[in-house]
Amino acid sequence: MEALKGIRILDMTHVQAGPTGSQLMAWLGADVIKLEPPTGDITRGQLRDVPNADSLYFTMLNCNKRSITVNMKNPAGKEVFIELLKQCDVVMENFGPGVIERLGFSWEKVHAINPRIVMASIKGFGSSGPYAEFKAYENVAQAMGGAMSTTGVLDGPPFVTGAQIGDSGTGLHLVIGILAALHHRNRTGQGQYVEVAMMDGIMNLCRVKFRDHQRLTRGPLSEYSVPTQGLKAVPRGGNDSGGGQLGNAIRCKPGGPDDYLYIVVQEAVWDALAKRVGGEKFATDPRFAKIGDRRKNQNEMWRLLNEFSSNYTKRELMAILNELNVPCGPIMSTDDLANDEHVRLREMYVEIDHPQRGKWYNVGMPIKLSASPAKIERSPLLGEHTDEILREVLGYGETEIATMKEAGAFSKEPPKVQPYHPLRA
Ligand SMILES: CC(C)(COP(=O)(O)OP(=O)(O)OC[C@H]1O[C@@H](n2cnc3c(N)ncnc32)[C@H](O)[C@@H]1OP(=O)(O)O)[C@@H](O)C(=O)NCCC(=O)NCCS
Repeated sequence: MEALKGIRILDMTHVQAGPTGSQLMAWLGADVIKLEPPTGDITRGQLRDVPNADSLYFTMLNCNKRSITVNMKNPAGKEVFIELLKQCDVVMENFGPGVIERLGFSWEKVHAINPRIVMASIKGFGSSGPYAEFKAYENVAQAMGGAMSTTGVLDGPPFVTGAQIGDSGTGLHLVIGILAALHHRNRTGQGQYVEVAMMDGIMNLCRVKFRDHQRLTRGPLSEYSVPTQGLKAVPRGGNDSGGGQLGNAIRCKPGGPDDYLYIVVQEAVWDALAKRVGGEKFATDPRFAKIGDRRKNQNEMWRLLNEFSSNYTKRELMAILNELNVPCGPIMSTDDLANDEHVRLREMYVEIDHPQRGKWYNVGMPIKLSASPAKIERSPLLGEHTDEILREVLGYGETEIATMKEAGAFSKEPPKVQPYHPLRA
């Protein structure tokens, strides 16, 4: 049975950061009602690859949800929203600063409507502090949370990482907060407000860089392959391992952009590795005898390892090194991964059907629960479940639905019936 069976989520999130979090909640078994403006989540139409079909940007982040469109700027729409709040365990949003308050639904208001509800928000920088009023996207958060200044090579510009640590990473943080708040709610009967700032989430993921930041005050960082003497901030260390063991990406045959293998020169395997790479001569070379020597002379060590690795493809090298129990991994391109047997077996790249676009693939559920495996189902069309939700969740009859429609609760059209008298006031 689904782990979160019985939990209902009102999901107002949009773009990436929030939707990845609510998609995880859906894969854990919650009933996720995606509440969209009548025009839909903006990503439905962004980066379209099939004309008139929801984009992969949308379909990949909104699986297993139901969609209802509600015009939150319309009084009848607000009334539907209030009724939904009363029937849900969690409400999630990641609007820009002040948006939810402008709509009239601050945490205080939401809590007063349903004291048991958990409200979960993502903001770029949180609701307090000098940056609170700023909007944020993925790379803004990577820039401001310390990721960019520590990614790239020493004499090059800062780089963003391809992993969406600002958006999807913040979604993960939010889910953790929601699960804790639900547990608390079950004990106390009271909901609470969960807030995750993207900048805070990035700093959390950059934790070890702040380890190095403080170590710099006591001297250079010997494990870095770049000079660190006298630095005040952690430099970009290329592909250095960033941990207690040395590591780097070494070049393989035939020299294409992804023909590299990442190798961790773990202390425990040095002897076996050195013998395989350069025989007894390399293994007994005093420049590399102890980990301290290898750190000091690592650029020469990497040169010798690269000389060896360029004779093999990344898969051949992986096989050689796996036999020696050396922690390593080929650099996998998206194409490698899409066709990888291990990935398919673990259901991490799954085929899904969609009425507008046909077959497509989603990245699977990375959290595997033994008794509650995720069943991945397609994303909803815009407003696909509006009537169903009004009937099932709110108990509206056909007349109420029709009157609300007339009043403009679900569309961007101006209300046709004026003035509006709330049916359920
Ligand atoms: C992502 C972001 C920059 C996008 O900015 P944006 O496109 O200007 O969107 P906003 O969230 O600021 O505003 C949404 C607008 O749509 C309106 N809206 C949203 N849902 C609505 C609905 N169901 N009915 C009617 N209007 C709706 C809001 O009221 C708001 O209008 P307003 O500006 O008149 O108050 C911003 O939402 C943000 O900073 N979010 C927090 C950080 C975040 O999650 N970023 C990562 C996104 S991947």
